[in-house]
Amino acid sequence: MKVLVLGSGAREHAIVKALGADPAVDAVVVAPGNPGMDAVALCEPLPGGISDSASAVEVARRHGVDLVVVGPEAPLVAGVADALREAGFAVFGPSAAAARLEGSKAFAKDVMAAAEVPTGLARVCTTVEEVADALDAMGAPHVVKDDGLAAGKGVVVTQDREQALEHARACLAKDGGRVVVEEFLSGPEVSLFCVSDGRMVLPLAPAQDFKRVGDGDEGPNTGGMGAYSPLDWAPASLADEVVTRIAQPTIEEMARRGTPFVGVLFVGLALTPRGPRVIEFNARFGDPETQVVLARLTTPLGALLHAAATGTLDDVGALSWSSEHAVTVVVAAADYPATPRTGDPITGIEDVDDVPTAYVLHAGTGRADDGTLVSAGGRVLSVVALGDSLSQARSRVYEAVERIALEGSHHRSDIALAAERNELHVG
Ligand code: AMP
Ligand code: GLY
Repeated sequence: MKVLVLGSGAREHAIVKALGADPAVDAVVVAPGNPGMDAVALCEPLPGGISDSASAVEVARRHGVDLVVVGPEAPLVAGVADALREAGFAVFGPSAAAARLEGSKAFAKDVMAAAEVPTGLARVCTTVEEVADALDAMGAPHVVKDDGLAAGKGVVVTQDREQALEHARACLAKDGGRVVVEEFLSGPEVSLFCVSDGRMVLPLAPAQDFKRVGDGDEGPNTGGMGAYSPLDWAPASLADEVVTRIAQPTIEEMARRGTPFVGVLFVGLALTPRGPRVIEFNARFGDPETQVVLARLTTPLGALLHAAATGTLDDVGALSWSSEHAVTVVVAAADYPATPRTGDPITGIEDVDDVPTAYVLHAGTGRADDGTLVSAGGRVLSVVALGDSLSQARSRVYEAVERIALEGSHHRSDIALAAERNELHVG
């Protein structure tokens, strides 16, 4: 099987790496990819950008691929999966209509209500007055979300009513701006990827992500600064419960509406004292959770994604997993997430090979004119390591991070620390 992967982040690098380990996969093409993926797959440019359907179809045709995996949300919401399907390709990734589960928080709430999925109370607002009413009705802490895609920057959680209103004003000022004011959900957060072929659902292993830029969950939200899996502190029944109460009803509701969801339904949950509640749906694999989830998946990935793309997930059977723990730490550029500095040389990646199990996945990397590896984005690298215990995986991943030099870079030093110390509890 020949596979085309669309994207250029560490999530796609992890997908490419896992596909490369599947004996049924003969070749992997990536568009546009990055210098890290260039070493293990054929990278093709996408002249019109990641959401350019015509270029994606052209690359898929030229290479005669058997499967296309769409990584990021932007091309999904823009309909790239639809264009590829119309051109006759098997695609892992939802149609634009189904990707609205991520593209519009108001739409996601509507589907959840119809499917009786447990989530926070919410009101969709189009004026500042409606927002003020909703804030007062729900009380602090206030949760205000931009309705549309905002690359991790659309949500404000605050005790400060004025700050909540300020965020709402900024979102409403956009063309067609809408905001969702939501009940605050307390409890540890979990990411669960549910692979679906439009009818049935197979859950992957739960993971936990660290969204804030600084240690102790300080500072602004980011795309994600690190992750680990498995979650020894979470109930063993969690994945099954989420499938039964959340993912399966959602997939059925989407099919009932005539817009079946094929791909990963990424369920972002809060494990509240009253049980798991959906914080958000995404329509794709999460970054950086994918880096740790795929590090442990021993079922061949190409066959799994191909089965989902072709409506034959019931042929796959139970997924198998390594018993090891995986941790990933994101190395971010100076000034990320505000205005990440680019163009700084990156050294020491080869030295990571000396650390058992550790490896480096590329995200915002590029080549200078002289071929030097340089930073080219906010999240630059995702360093991954495995261990027999979480503590071993943590110490390996941080040893590996220390080998890498990138001027001005920063990373969190407390990824998976609370779990290692047994400080996490449900409810
Ligand atoms: P989202 O983009 O919806 O994932 O939200 C980003 C982050 O905001 C989440 O990971 C949570 O930490 C936080 N958040 C979102 N919604 C809620 C909520 N209803 N209650 C508490 N925290 C929330
Ligand atoms: N790590 C969260 C996300 O991918 O949205």
